[in-house]
Amino acid sequence: MLSYPFKFLSSSIRVSINPTYHEADIIDQFCSIDAHRYSTFTNPNKKKEFVFSRAALLQACGSISEIKYEGNKPVIANAFISLSHCKAGTAACYSDKLEVGIDIEVERKNIKRISSKFTSQKEVEKFKCSEQDAIQFIWGIKESLFKLHGLGGIDFKEDLDIVSFEWNETTKQGWGMAWIRKVCANRPYQMQCLVQVAKMGKHYICMASHRRKMNPFTSLRTQLREWEPSDAPWLYELNSDPSVTRYTGNAGFSDEKSALEIIHSYPNYQRDGYGRWIVIDKASKKPMGWCGLINNRWGIDLGFRFFKEYWGKGLATECASATMEQAKKLQLRRLIGRTLSPNIGSWMVLEKIGMKRFESTSIEEFASDYNLEPQDLKLWKGQMLFMYKIDL
Ligand SMILES: CC(C)(COP(=O)(O)OP(=O)(O)OC[C@H]1O[C@@H](n2cnc3c(N)ncnc32)[C@H](O)[C@@H]1OP(=O)(O)O)[C@@H](O)C(=O)NCCC(=O)NCCS
Repeated sequence: MLSYPFKFLSSSIRVSINPTYHEADIIDQFCSIDAHRYSTFTNPNKKKEFVFSRAALLQACGSISEIKYEGNKPVIANAFISLSHCKAGTAACYSDKLEVGIDIEVERKNIKRISSKFTSQKEVEKFKCSEQDAIQFIWGIKESLFKLHGLGGIDFKEDLDIVSFEWNETTKQGWGMAWIRKVCANRPYQMQCLVQVAKMGKHYICMASHRRKMNPFTSLRTQLREWEPSDAPWLYELNSDPSVTRYTGNAGFSDEKSALEIIHSYPNYQRDGYGRWIVIDKASKKPMGWCGLINNRWGIDLGFRFFKEYWGKGLATECASATMEQAKKLQLRRLIGRTLSPNIGSWMVLEKIGMKRFESTSIEEFASDYNLEPQDLKLWKGQMLFMYKIDL
């Protein structure tokens, strides 16, 4: 069975779980090392298990004859693969874009007894599912992070940190953000990863993926780059100015700590390959604000927010236009913009980069469909929400 059991990244990662296969077809395609390994197994169950795992790899990768080995780890040139098997289960994943790690487990009744070795109560509480499922998933997520990292020497409790997790009891799927905190010469920065899980029958399947940091891009006067934890103090400062948040609201940035939490659990770069980006002044290297894209239920939204001292200098137009060029490079088809009617600067920026207004809704009508903070609704009473779009 070829299935993609997770919520995100189905166009970037191929997954195979418990495939059906003809043994002879798989053996036929073994690379020379696998053929040799297979011939050395004397235990028929071991042979079966080996073919089963290579069948999953074949289904995920499209070919297994090119497999090479780094130590015991199977690798494929110019792509990332990961493989896992357990009692009566096997899983493999492949991506030519993202680093990946996968893990499949069956229920282990006694896992709770050893859970303090790899997780904490605080981490377990993030999982809104049964305690047994939570601990199984945490173990599986950490195994998949460990495989993705690939260099060993990882302490599951100290070095692997699951910072957010959402669970859907109906679909039995979950996802969240995690960090590999361990830094070494070959992995010189802490790695943010998207983690996804699914419970399929008696199997717990977990997958971690990591997208390399985007290379910063530039406009005439600025550089745009991804948010980093060290940006928390000034992001808080930006959102503390009521004239900056007058038409945007200030959800989540109530203090420096919550700004840091937002950065840590920000899924957009890992999930979508884009997000809101920090705008840095090329000359002074100081942060000026942010500009970028967000995938929401209206489409891919272009937005911006700058410190007041930088307003009225054409910066938003310059950065929005550079962001639109970046969106074209990412092969996005359409961008939208949303702004409140009195925020003239904002809708003028959208119009200056070529967006066209296609809808105008009263904020009250919009609020009936969308959760707005009561204080924002009060503040924006009687205003219109303008919707803009542009096809790239
Ligand atoms: C909205 C915002 C991003 C505009 O940034 P900016 O760098 O000042 O915009 P630009 O200088 O590129 O201005 C674009 C155009 O809008 C005009 N404009 C800017 N602010 C204006 C205002 N308050 N009233 C009327 N026109 C304004 C500019 O004159 C310019 O037009 P021009 O080229 O014909 O002179 C900035 O005011 C801001 O950060 N506001 C707070 C956050 C926010 O509201 N973001 C948008 C949420 S939807």
